[in-house]
Amino acid sequence: MCGIVGYVGGKTALPILVEGLKRLEYRGYDSAGVAFVDPGGIRVTKSKGRISVLEHQINCSEGATTGIAHTRWATHGAPNDVNAHPHVDAAGRFALVHNGIIENYAALRTYLSNQGVTFATETDTEVLVQLIAHIYDGDIERTVKRALREVRGTYGIAVIAADEPDTVVAARNGSPLLVGIGDGEYIIASDASAILSHTTHVIYLGDNEVVRVSPDSIRTTTLDDIPVTKDIEEIEWSLDQIELGGHEHFMMKEIFEQPDALRDCMRGRIVPEEGSVHLGGITDVARELTRAKRIIMTACGTAWHAALVGEYLFEDLARIPTEVEYASEFRYRNPIIEDGTVVLAISQSGETADTLAALNEAKERGALALGAVNVVGSSIARSTDAGVFLHVGPEIGVASTKAFSGQVAVLAMLACYVGRRRHMSQGGASEFLTALSRIPEQITTILEQDGACKAVAAANISRENWLYLGRGYQYPVALEGALKLKEISYIHAEGLPAAEMKHGPIALITDQMPVVFLATRGTQYDKIISNIEEVRTRGGRVIAIATEGDQQIERLAEWVINVPDTIESLQPLLTVIPLQLIAYHAALLRGCNVDKPRNLAKSVTVE
Ligand code: M6R
Repeated sequence: MCGIVGYVGGKTALPILVEGLKRLEYRGYDSAGVAFVDPGGIRVTKSKGRISVLEHQINCSEGATTGIAHTRWATHGAPNDVNAHPHVDAAGRFALVHNGIIENYAALRTYLSNQGVTFATETDTEVLVQLIAHIYDGDIERTVKRALREVRGTYGIAVIAADEPDTVVAARNGSPLLVGIGDGEYIIASDASAILSHTTHVIYLGDNEVVRVSPDSIRTTTLDDIPVTKDIEEIEWSLDQIELGGHEHFMMKEIFEQPDALRDCMRGRIVPEEGSVHLGGITDVARELTRAKRIIMTACGTAWHAALVGEYLFEDLARIPTEVEYASEFRYRNPIIEDGTVVLAISQSGETADTLAALNEAKERGALALGAVNVVGSSIARSTDAGVFLHVGPEIGVASTKAFSGQVAVLAMLACYVGRRRHMSQGGASEFLTALSRIPEQITTILEQDGACKAVAAANISRENWLYLGRGYQYPVALEGALKLKEISYIHAEGLPAAEMKHGPIALITDQMPVVFLATRGTQYDKIISNIEEVRTRGGRVIAIATEGDQQIERLAEWVINVPDTIESLQPLLTVIPLQLIAYHAALLRGCNVDKPRNLAKSVTVE
């Protein structure tokens, strides 16, 4: 999704802006641009395509010390040079970058056109910068506020003005923005990764807040000009966590980070021998959560798949009726929230627009609003009543891998936490947590089979359609495996509960169809074996993810990837790993850009 960087301070702005843009590349974009103040006015360079293209068009040694920059992911208007940000007013005195959507831009545009303003683009963003230019009263902060009071929609913006060359004004409503605080400098960004090489001290802007930064001052106020005292917070992530560290792709790095990521996620939170779970973020709501009559988990994409695993976990361990809702559906339904309903939003980025809106809808209706989020300081994390951070470190690859594992691990801890307070015995909890604590080392042994996963991908690389089938806890993993394959390799793949195959999809099975079975030992093992037989009978090519030592599967499947044994409820944490690796290798073998799949953004901050 779109990204913003802004700089004001004593250094040359352009290299800092360009570096910031590169750090935001992972979020997905189709064009980029920079604007800075020089004695002649505002200078802008923007171009369609990669930041490297933009970099060739600018002279990074230009001396300007104030500037703004943007990566655009087109929503309104084609991805081209003209529609790229920053946008400027007709006289070139102001430049603005914008994430979000100005919903009433058509009315504002008509108003300004009637006043004689001419427009260069069709974008909603240009309307805002033209409005600012039209009503400018000599103070850019005051003018931006006046302009924003006329705006309906969502925005994170940064603005510079030729007449106030040492100032950047930024504002937020529904689209994340933070200010990195350096020594005599400030860096505005939509994502912490853009500032990490300069500072770890930040303030997070809230909705309807405006910040004005100059080299020696920072001031935050509301849109109505009421001063706001902001806490300076520390970003926990380090620079090497957002760099490749010798790996070819972030996705591979993050797949291989999973053992350590899960150790970090569980550190200090579980005591297996006591059967106890400690989750500081929910202590204040523990009583309400324990007494919940119903839990609704809401999320999108991979996080929604993790939520499905969570549904099984919560019903098994905590015995609380649990439903999983696509956030995009939940927010527009008329959901029933009664006393005792807890809504849990699950999100890696904490910025997914639908998940945030669903959470807010639930809050409005009186639900206890919880979050399981990775990014500290993100919008969802800040909107919840309480929650549990994933602590799996930054996830840069667009295809979510370690965040899925972190989400499932957090849901497992949470379900055990609640279960233990309701009816789970200490022995039961202890057994569960012991198995959970062994997962990281078990993942390491699966990662050693990377070569076998690559061989599966290579043998089936020319197939255009794949099926993923699982039952019970493995059904969400089937969905996740199919999503991983399609989003990065562009091979069509479908995940299904294995029993559903007979109700239609079995018609697709031929010797051209690879079928991935999640066939680990568990309560539904025999039924999965029957499903494998059904596929074999029709010539389908069976790939099985099975429990180590299972000789029956060896006889039935063309390819077998083994995972270590664990309790059924935790198997998703193991079986998902080979599916991530198969998808990764399939994408590479097809020549796809693994970390930046076409049309996709890392965090979907618009509807
Ligand atoms: O940041 P979130 O977890 O809220 O993101 C939700 C989905 O957009 C995300 O999981 C998406 O499906 C991934 N690209 C899948 O790999």
